[in-house]
Amino acid sequence: MMESLKDKILIERLPEHIAVIMDGNGRWAKQQGKMRIFGHQHGVDAVRNTTEACAELGVKYLTLYAFSTENWNRSSLEVDALMSLLTTALKNELKTLNDNNIRLNAIGDLKRLPKSQYDALMYAIDNTKNNTRMTLTLCLSYSSRWELTKMVKDIATEVKQGKIAPEQVDEALINNHLATAGMPDPDLLIRTSGEERISNYLLWQIAYSELYFTKKYWPDFSKEDLYEAIVDYQSRERRFGKTSEQIKK
Ligand code: FPP
Repeated sequence: MMESLKDKILIERLPEHIAVIMDGNGRWAKQQGKMRIFGHQHGVDAVRNTTEACAELGVKYLTLYAFSTENWNRSSLEVDALMSLLTTALKNELKTLNDNNIRLNAIGDLKRLPKSQYDALMYAIDNTKNNTRMTLTLCLSYSSRWELTKMVKDIATEVKQGKIAPEQVDEALINNHLATAGMPDPDLLIRTSGEERISNYLLWQIAYSELYFTKKYWPDFSKEDLYEAIVDYQSRERRFGKTSEQIKK
Protein backbone atom coordinates (compact mmCIF):
# COMPACT_ATOMS: atom_id res chain seq x y z
CA MET A 1 0.00 0.00 0.00
CA MET A 2 1.11 3.54 -0.69
CA GLU A 3 2.49 5.35 2.32
CA SER A 4 -0.01 7.83 3.74
CA LEU A 5 0.59 10.90 5.85
CA LYS A 6 -2.21 9.53 8.00
CA ASP A 7 0.39 7.28 9.68
CA LYS A 8 2.30 10.38 10.81
CA ILE A 9 -0.68 11.85 12.68
CA LEU A 10 -0.49 11.67 16.48
CA ILE A 11 -4.02 10.74 17.51
CA GLU A 12 -3.48 12.09 21.05
CA ARG A 13 -2.77 15.55 19.59
CA LEU A 14 -5.56 15.68 17.05
CA PRO A 15 -7.20 19.10 16.55
CA GLU A 16 -10.60 18.90 18.21
CA HIS A 17 -12.09 21.47 15.83
CA ILE A 18 -11.07 22.14 12.22
CA ALA A 19 -12.55 25.09 10.31
CA VAL A 20 -12.19 25.39 6.54
CA ILE A 21 -12.49 28.21 3.99
CA MET A 22 -13.28 26.21 0.86
CA ASP A 23 -11.90 28.46 -1.87
CA GLY A 24 -11.02 28.11 -5.54
CA ASN A 25 -14.01 26.31 -7.03
CA GLY A 26 -14.43 28.98 -9.70
CA ARG A 27 -10.76 29.02 -10.70
CA TRP A 28 -10.66 25.22 -10.76
CA ALA A 29 -13.55 25.22 -13.25
CA LYS A 30 -12.13 28.08 -15.33
CA GLN A 31 -8.84 26.23 -15.67
CA GLN A 32 -10.77 23.57 -17.55
CA GLY A 33 -12.84 25.99 -19.58
CA LYS A 34 -15.97 25.11 -17.61
CA MET A 35 -18.68 27.15 -15.85
CA ARG A 36 -18.06 28.15 -12.24
CA ILE A 37 -20.85 25.87 -11.04
CA PHE A 38 -18.91 22.87 -12.36
CA GLY A 39 -16.32 23.71 -9.71
CA HIS A 40 -18.94 23.92 -6.98
CA GLN A 41 -20.34 20.54 -8.04
CA HIS A 42 -16.89 19.00 -7.61
CA GLY A 43 -16.51 20.95 -4.40
CA VAL A 44 -19.21 18.74 -2.92
CA ASP A 45 -16.94 15.70 -3.44
CA ALA A 46 -14.20 17.46 -1.46
CA VAL A 47 -16.74 18.21 1.29
CA ARG A 48 -17.60 14.50 1.44
CA ASN A 49 -13.94 13.39 1.49
CA THR A 50 -12.96 15.91 4.15
CA THR A 51 -15.95 15.07 6.35
CA GLU A 52 -15.23 11.36 6.07
CA ALA A 53 -11.52 11.81 6.81
CA CYS A 54 -12.21 13.96 9.88
CA ALA A 55 -14.76 11.50 11.25
CA GLU A 56 -12.42 8.54 10.65
CA LEU A 57 -9.60 10.28 12.52
CA GLY A 58 -11.78 11.31 15.46
CA VAL A 59 -12.00 15.08 14.89
CA LYS A 60 -15.04 16.23 16.90
CA TYR A 61 -15.98 19.42 15.00
CA LEU A 62 -15.64 20.33 11.33
CA THR A 63 -16.90 23.77 10.30
CA LEU A 64 -17.16 24.68 6.62
CA TYR A 65 -17.60 28.13 5.06
CA ALA A 66 -20.15 27.13 2.41
CA PHE A 67 -21.81 30.47 1.61
CA SER A 68 -20.92 33.89 2.97
CA THR A 69 -23.15 36.93 3.49
CA GLU A 70 -21.19 38.54 0.64
CA ASN A 71 -21.87 35.57 -1.69
CA TRP A 72 -25.48 36.82 -2.05
CA ASN A 73 -23.97 39.48 -4.35
CA ARG A 74 -22.86 36.93 -6.95
CA SER A 75 -24.92 36.53 -10.13
CA SER A 76 -28.35 35.05 -9.57
CA LEU A 77 -27.31 32.23 -11.88
CA GLU A 78 -24.52 31.24 -9.49
CA VAL A 79 -26.53 31.85 -6.30
CA ASP A 80 -29.42 29.71 -7.61
CA ALA A 81 -27.04 26.97 -8.67
CA LEU A 82 -25.35 26.96 -5.25
CA MET A 83 -28.74 26.80 -3.55
CA SER A 84 -29.91 23.88 -5.63
CA LEU A 85 -26.58 22.15 -5.00
CA LEU A 86 -27.22 22.58 -1.29
CA THR A 87 -30.61 20.84 -1.37
CA THR A 88 -29.30 18.05 -3.59
CA ALA A 89 -26.34 17.47 -1.29
CA LEU A 90 -28.51 17.53 1.83
CA LYS A 91 -30.84 14.96 0.27
CA ASN A 92 -28.08 12.73 -1.09
CA GLU A 93 -25.81 12.79 1.94
CA LEU A 94 -28.34 12.46 4.76
CA LYS A 95 -28.08 8.67 4.89
CA THR A 96 -24.27 8.83 4.89
CA LEU A 97 -24.35 11.35 7.75
CA ASN A 98 -26.56 9.03 9.79
CA ASP A 99 -24.59 5.88 8.85
CA ASN A 100 -21.47 7.65 10.10
CA ASN A 101 -23.10 9.03 13.25
CA ILE A 102 -22.45 12.66 12.19
CA ARG A 103 -24.60 15.49 13.48
CA LEU A 104 -25.35 18.30 11.02
CA ASN A 105 -25.46 21.88 12.25
CA ALA A 106 -25.74 25.22 10.44
CA ILE A 107 -24.88 28.77 11.45
CA GLY A 108 -25.56 32.05 9.72
CA ASP A 109 -28.49 34.25 8.81
CA LEU A 110 -30.44 31.14 7.81
CA LYS A 111 -33.73 33.02 7.43
CA ARG A 112 -32.29 34.54 4.24
CA LEU A 113 -32.19 31.12 2.60
CA PRO A 114 -35.02 30.32 0.17
CA LYS A 115 -37.77 28.30 1.88
CA SER A 116 -37.00 24.96 0.23
CA GLN A 117 -33.30 25.18 1.23
CA TYR A 118 -34.23 26.29 4.74
CA ASP A 119 -36.70 23.43 5.14
CA ALA A 120 -34.28 20.81 3.77
CA LEU A 121 -31.61 22.10 6.13
CA MET A 122 -33.87 22.03 9.19
CA TYR A 123 -35.00 18.53 8.28
CA ALA A 124 -31.42 17.25 8.01
CA ILE A 125 -30.40 18.97 11.25
CA ASP A 126 -33.34 17.46 13.12
CA ASN A 127 -32.80 14.06 11.55
CA THR A 128 -29.17 13.88 12.70
CA LYS A 129 -29.51 15.59 16.07
CA ASN A 130 -28.79 12.49 18.16
CA ASN A 131 -25.56 11.61 16.33
CA THR A 132 -22.46 11.88 18.49
CA ARG A 133 -19.29 11.05 16.57
CA MET A 134 -18.69 14.47 14.99
CA THR A 135 -20.53 17.76 14.44
CA LEU A 136 -20.41 19.07 10.88
CA THR A 137 -21.32 22.77 10.83
CA LEU A 138 -22.19 24.46 7.54
CA CYS A 139 -21.78 28.24 7.59
CA LEU A 140 -24.52 29.51 5.31
CA SER A 141 -25.32 33.16 4.74
CA TYR A 142 -22.65 33.59 7.40
CA SER A 143 -20.13 36.30 8.08
CA SER A 144 -18.32 37.06 11.28
CA ARG A 145 -19.36 40.72 11.33
CA TRP A 146 -23.00 39.64 10.95
CA GLU A 147 -22.52 37.27 13.90
CA LEU A 148 -20.72 39.86 16.07
CA THR A 149 -23.32 42.54 15.31
CA LYS A 150 -26.09 40.16 16.30
CA MET A 151 -24.24 39.23 19.49
CA VAL A 152 -23.87 42.88 20.53
CA LYS A 153 -27.54 43.56 19.76
CA ASP A 154 -28.70 40.53 21.74
CA ILE A 155 -26.54 41.40 24.76
CA ALA A 156 -27.64 45.07 24.63
CA THR A 157 -31.27 43.95 24.58
CA GLU A 158 -30.74 41.71 27.63
CA VAL A 159 -29.02 44.56 29.45
CA LYS A 160 -31.90 46.88 28.61
CA GLN A 161 -34.40 44.33 29.85
CA GLY A 162 -32.45 44.09 33.11
CA LYS A 163 -31.60 40.41 32.57
CA ILE A 164 -27.86 41.08 32.82
CA ALA A 165 -25.76 43.93 34.17
CA PRO A 166 -23.05 45.50 31.95
CA GLU A 167 -20.44 44.30 34.50
CA GLN A 168 -21.42 40.71 33.73
CA VAL A 169 -20.29 40.98 30.12
CA ASP A 170 -17.18 38.81 29.85
CA GLU A 171 -15.64 36.41 27.32
CA ALA A 172 -17.80 33.50 28.45
CA LEU A 173 -20.97 35.55 28.05
CA ILE A 174 -19.90 36.68 24.59
CA ASN A 175 -19.13 33.06 23.61
CA ASN A 176 -22.61 32.07 24.70
CA HIS A 177 -24.15 34.70 22.44
CA LEU A 178 -22.29 33.67 19.30
CA ALA A 179 -23.68 31.30 16.68
CA THR A 180 -20.94 28.86 17.74
CA ALA A 181 -22.10 28.78 21.40
CA GLY A 182 -21.20 25.47 22.97
CA MET A 183 -18.49 24.65 20.44
CA PRO A 184 -14.77 24.80 21.22
CA ASP A 185 -12.77 27.35 19.21
CA PRO A 186 -11.13 26.00 16.04
CA ASP A 187 -7.63 24.63 16.68
CA LEU A 188 -6.81 24.67 12.99
CA LEU A 189 -8.11 26.88 10.17
CA ILE A 190 -7.44 25.70 6.63
CA ARG A 191 -7.87 27.88 3.52
CA THR A 192 -7.43 26.45 0.04
CA SER A 193 -6.61 28.14 -3.30
CA GLY A 194 -3.53 30.12 -2.27
CA GLU A 195 -5.38 33.16 -0.93
CA GLU A 196 -4.12 34.13 2.52
CA ARG A 197 -7.03 36.00 4.07
CA ILE A 198 -9.71 35.35 6.67
CA SER A 199 -12.60 36.87 4.66
CA ASN A 200 -14.97 37.63 7.54
CA TYR A 201 -14.83 34.11 8.99
CA LEU A 202 -15.01 33.26 12.72
CA LEU A 203 -13.00 36.36 13.69
CA TRP A 204 -13.57 36.00 17.44
CA GLN A 205 -13.20 32.23 17.49
CA ILE A 206 -9.86 32.00 15.64
CA ALA A 207 -7.97 34.21 18.13
CA TYR A 208 -5.52 31.35 18.84
CA SER A 209 -6.13 29.05 15.87
CA GLU A 210 -3.23 27.80 13.79
CA LEU A 211 -3.65 28.98 10.21
CA TYR A 212 -2.82 26.68 7.30
CA PHE A 213 -2.86 27.81 3.68
CA THR A 214 -2.55 25.50 0.69
CA LYS A 215 -2.40 26.35 -3.02
CA LYS A 216 -4.71 23.47 -3.92
CA TYR A 217 -8.12 24.51 -5.23
CA TRP A 218 -10.97 23.18 -3.09
CA PRO A 219 -12.26 20.54 -5.59
CA ASP A 220 -8.76 19.00 -5.57
CA PHE A 221 -8.49 18.95 -1.76
CA SER A 222 -8.15 15.27 -0.83
CA LYS A 223 -7.94 13.25 2.38
CA GLU A 224 -4.17 13.22 1.93
CA ASP A 225 -4.19 17.06 1.82
CA LEU A 226 -6.12 17.11 5.08
CA TYR A 227 -3.58 14.74 6.67
CA GLU A 228 -0.80 17.04 5.46
CA ALA A 229 -2.48 20.03 7.15
CA ILE A 230 -2.86 18.09 10.41
CA VAL A 231 0.76 16.90 10.36
CA ASP A 232 1.86 20.50 9.82
CA TYR A 233 -0.40 21.64 12.68
CA GLN A 234 1.14 19.03 14.97
CA SER A 235 4.65 20.28 14.20
CA ARG A 236 3.77 23.69 15.66
CA GLU A 237 4.02 24.81 19.24
CA ARG A 238 0.84 26.46 20.48
CA ARG A 239 1.75 28.98 23.15
CA PHE A 240 -1.47 30.96 23.73
CA GLY A 241 0.60 34.02 24.66
CA LYS A 242 2.99 32.12 26.95
CA THR A 243 6.71 31.59 26.36
CA SER A 244 8.12 28.38 24.98
CA GLU A 245 9.68 27.60 28.39
CA GLN A 246 6.37 28.03 30.20
CA ILE A 247 4.69 25.59 27.79
CA LYS A 248 7.33 22.90 28.31
CA LYS A 249 7.08 22.98 32.11
C1 FPP B 1 -15.44 29.28 -3.03
O1 FPP B 1 -14.98 29.16 -4.33
C2 FPP B 1 -16.57 28.40 -2.76
C3 FPP B 1 -17.84 28.82 -2.53
C4 FPP B 1 -18.24 30.22 -2.50
C5 FPP B 1 -18.92 27.85 -2.29
C6 FPP B 1 -18.55 26.58 -1.59
C7 FPP B 1 -19.52 25.56 -1.96
C8 FPP B 1 -19.26 24.25 -2.10
C9 FPP B 1 -17.98 23.61 -1.80
C10 FPP B 1 -20.33 23.35 -2.61
C11 FPP B 1 -21.60 23.41 -1.90
C12 FPP B 1 -21.48 23.08 -0.46
C13 FPP B 1 -22.34 22.33 0.21
C14 FPP B 1 -22.17 22.20 1.68
C15 FPP B 1 -23.45 21.62 -0.43
P1 FPP B 1 -15.08 30.42 -5.28
O2 FPP B 1 -16.35 30.29 -6.04
O3 FPP B 1 -14.93 31.66 -4.49
O4 FPP B 1 -13.84 30.18 -6.22
P2 FPP B 1 -12.91 31.29 -6.89
O5 FPP B 1 -12.30 32.08 -5.78
O6 FPP B 1 -11.91 30.46 -7.62
O7 FPP B 1 -13.78 32.10 -7.79
